Amino acid sequence: MQKTTLTITRKTLLSPAWWQITLSAPHLAEQLIPGQFLLAQCADPFTAYLRRPVFPMLVEPNHLALLLRPSSDAGLAWLLTRQVGDQLDLLGPLGQGFPQPAEGQHVCLISDSSDLAPLLGQMQIALQNSSVVTMALQASRANRLYPISTLPIAVELHVATLDGSMGQRGRLTPLLPDLLRWADVVYATGSMPFLHQLHQQALEIRLGHHTQFLYGLWPQQLFGCGLGACLSCVATTASGLKRVCVDGPIFDLGHMLGET
Ligand code: FES
Repeated sequence: MQKTTLTITRKTLLSPAWWQITLSAPHLAEQLIPGQFLLAQCADPFTAYLRRPVFPMLVEPNHLALLLRPSSDAGLAWLLTRQVGDQLDLLGPLGQGFPQPAEGQHVCLISDSSDLAPLLGQMQIALQNSSVVTMALQASRANRLYPISTLPIAVELHVATLDGSMGQRGRLTPLLPDLLRWADVVYATGSMPFLHQLHQQALEIRLGHHTQFLYGLWPQQLFGCGLGACLSCVATTASGLKRVCVDGPIFDLGHMLGET
């Protein structure tokens, strides 16, 4: 973990609801594992007292990118107003990231939320590992969805929107059985109810079959220290009390939600 100041080298509008800011980060970029986070100092302590967790992804050699969306949170809204040449005060990398997929696996990346950066980082690693990658995304409507045109053509895509404006109308839930039967390993982000559904479906489908690996990102929250000291992020899991900032935020979904 280190405290560092990084300079914004590019700010890109990916779609009306998604921005990407790119940071020059020669030392951090080589250390960071998808799912690990940085704590960003946002504005001044009166506007955003606590540092905000951000999940960077490697976008090119020596550069990290942050995915940003319009937010009602004062800290994240401030972050979205930063411009090329501005500097960000960051702490990290912090926490546990996703385990790497083995070579040649069937990898499923799935989310019902906009917390996609850890999945996009994991997607890059899986493709480099010669894995077959499927991504399944859910949003309320098409213009809230991550811009899928930016995803590599090698990734098979499933989309569900609640209003039916793109892909399947409704939730991803009906697709889960087929996706889970196909996948060797599943990496998920999203709401707690969605992660519970995913875990429950996996238990029903895989009962008596080979072990399937499921990993989930603990739904985003504010952290205090980010270092395991203040205990403000302690959560009850099936494996006992865990500090999300150091024991997570990536957990084995079974340990996180169900199995002891
Ligand atoms: S934020 Fe302080 S222990 Fe996790």
